[in-house]
Amino acid sequence: MFNTTAWNRLRYDVYAPIYDAVAERAFRRARREALGQVHWRPGMRVLLVGAGTGLDLPWLPRDIELHATDLSPAMTRRLERRAETLERDVAVEVMDAEALDFPDGHFDVVVMHLILAVMPDPARGLAEARRVLAEGGQLCVMDKFQSDERPASLGRRALNLITSAIATDITRQARPLLADAGFVIEADRPVMMGSLFRALLARKGNI
Ligand SMILES: C[S@@+](CC[C@H](N)C(=O)[O-])C[C@H]1O[C@@H](n2cnc3c(N)ncnc32)[C@H](O)[C@@H]1O
Repeated sequence: MFNTTAWNRLRYDVYAPIYDAVAERAFRRARREALGQVHWRPGMRVLLVGAGTGLDLPWLPRDIELHATDLSPAMTRRLERRAETLERDVAVEVMDAEALDFPDGHFDVVVMHLILAVMPDPARGLAEARRVLAEGGQLCVMDKFQSDERPASLGRRALNLITSAIATDITRQARPLLADAGFVIEADRPVMMGSLFRALLARKGNI
């Protein structure tokens, strides 16, 4: 499978100028629904992982401490410009989701929108999200997933050889991924294209 972190950094640097044209309107409702599931409190410390150009920013409460990371310098530059336009204070850093440079238990909420199906090792990314979350912290996920009830068919796995290299993996299953990483799922609902795209809210559990 041609899906590596170096390749993702390169391709998202290339996609950055057109990303908003493709993803802004298309995912607006889905990201609002996903973020709407989070139990927000003033002053929460929040981390966006694989934050892209910051399309989540307009839908986040203002009274939080906001951090955003992404692998691609070109995407993060756009995020910084969006934060400036929206007059939002965001600490932005280029960072690999598989090796987060934050202390254990640092965040109340971690948001992973459209990244678990992109990164080569989502289990590693989830382990890092869990590590930086405080006890009882919330994980907000919105992404495309294969049904939890059955593994991807042969045809889908063949197609995945192409989609995972240029866009996204289409074979990943949300519940096994989150449960194996030590998350307790509190909400899980379809948000786009039938049940292909789902919004999940999970808590850091004890494992
Ligand atoms: C489909 S975009 C989603 C962006 C944003 N979360 C959104 O909802 O619009 C995937 C993003 O994940 C980033 N990414 C891919 N692999 C990553 C990794 N290992 N660590 C951090 N970011 C990564 C890409 O650079 C890209 O910005």
